[in-house]
Amino acid sequence: MNIKVPLNAVCPYFTMFPLGFPLQVLARATEAHEPVLDPFCGRGTTNLAARLREMPSTGIDTHPVAAAVAQAKLIATKPQAIATCLDEILGSEPECAMPRGPFWQLAFHQATLQDIARVRSALVRDASTPERRALQAVLLGALHGPLTKSSPSYLSNQCPRTYAPKPRYAVTYWQRHGLSAPPADIRTVVKRRAERYYTQVLPVPDGSRVLLADSRDPEVFRQLRDEQFGWIVTSPPYYGMRTYLPDQWLRLWLLGGPETVDYEQRVQVSHGSPEGFIQQLRDVWTNCASVCRPHARLVVRFGGFPQCRQDPMQLLRESLTGTGWRIQTRRDAGPAPAGRRQADHFGVTSTPRSEFDLWAVRST
Ligand SMILES: C[S@@+](CC[C@H](N)C(=O)[O-])C[C@H]1O[C@@H](n2cnc3c(N)ncnc32)[C@H](O)[C@@H]1O
Repeated sequence: MNIKVPLNAVCPYFTMFPLGFPLQVLARATEAHEPVLDPFCGRGTTNLAARLREMPSTGIDTHPVAAAVAQAKLIATKPQAIATCLDEILGSEPECAMPRGPFWQLAFHQATLQDIARVRSALVRDASTPERRALQAVLLGALHGPLTKSSPSYLSNQCPRTYAPKPRYAVTYWQRHGLSAPPADIRTVVKRRAERYYTQVLPVPDGSRVLLADSRDPEVFRQLRDEQFGWIVTSPPYYGMRTYLPDQWLRLWLLGGPETVDYEQRVQVSHGSPEGFIQQLRDVWTNCASVCRPHARLVVRFGGFPQCRQDPMQLLRESLTGTGWRIQTRRDAGPAPAGRRQADHFGVTSTPRSEFDLWAVRST
């Protein structure tokens, strides 16, 4: 299913699944407006699919970038409102301290960085309105990416789009290739992107939301116990995928994080050992079962890296044991498209991997 919904591309986030996948799964829903849950929502692909099917959805993710982007998938606003919001911020926000060091000198033109820093300050203080949230997501998507010959589409020097380069590596690369960041007009970049992503009018089903929270925590699910979810469509981190936070360090800075890479992984599912990973997934599946109606469906897209010695199917099966879910079927999802990091302009290529979908039903 190849459905184009511009909003889905507001900000890249790797290991997202294609929109067609949750759309196809949710097409099987027989009850209208059944609530949908994704406990590892990433950039909110399941939430957007549910929105298109007019089903309310809840997404949960511990990653601030994922939660901000997923939230933007549930916003109804207009491009003009986003542009006005940016104008107001730039018209009132005072000059502020900019991050320092060789990376920041080369990553952005200094006038562009000053504008970004002012908007960042304003949005860190208050991102409560739909326009501010949409603006934040648009900026997250525009923050870094490839240089273009025509007017800039991104605000940075040459960068990958999907993940942020590590500072020392990036500085060496830019110096070796004599690359500098052109002045990018933040108003023009945001206006163009807001038009691309927020012109299409989509209804937002009542009760749709995204929680910046840990799906291993039963407390998070206590606030959801009246939901009676009918569908869970999700994709946990693949075993060994440890880089969600450090790879997004620049976007995390835009959300108020530090101006250096933070390697702390505390809030992510642990990859220390297969047993620990299985147990933590088990906690998530148990929490999910506690907020689902009888016979609810759980559909998990999962896979592994070629270099990983663990069998992903085995890991997932074990994680579901004793959690209130009965496995029904497994379907091959085919190899993940090569180049999940295809926007990589630093010459590192990605490795394709096989993926499958596991279907389970809430046992009574
Ligand atoms: C494979 S990605 C999901 C991608 C998503 N399907 C999409 O289309 O964007 C897995 C997500 O799980 C999140 N995650 C890892 N540990 C988590 C936890 N304990 N609770 C909630 N989310 C977690 C990661 O931050 C990451 O965004």
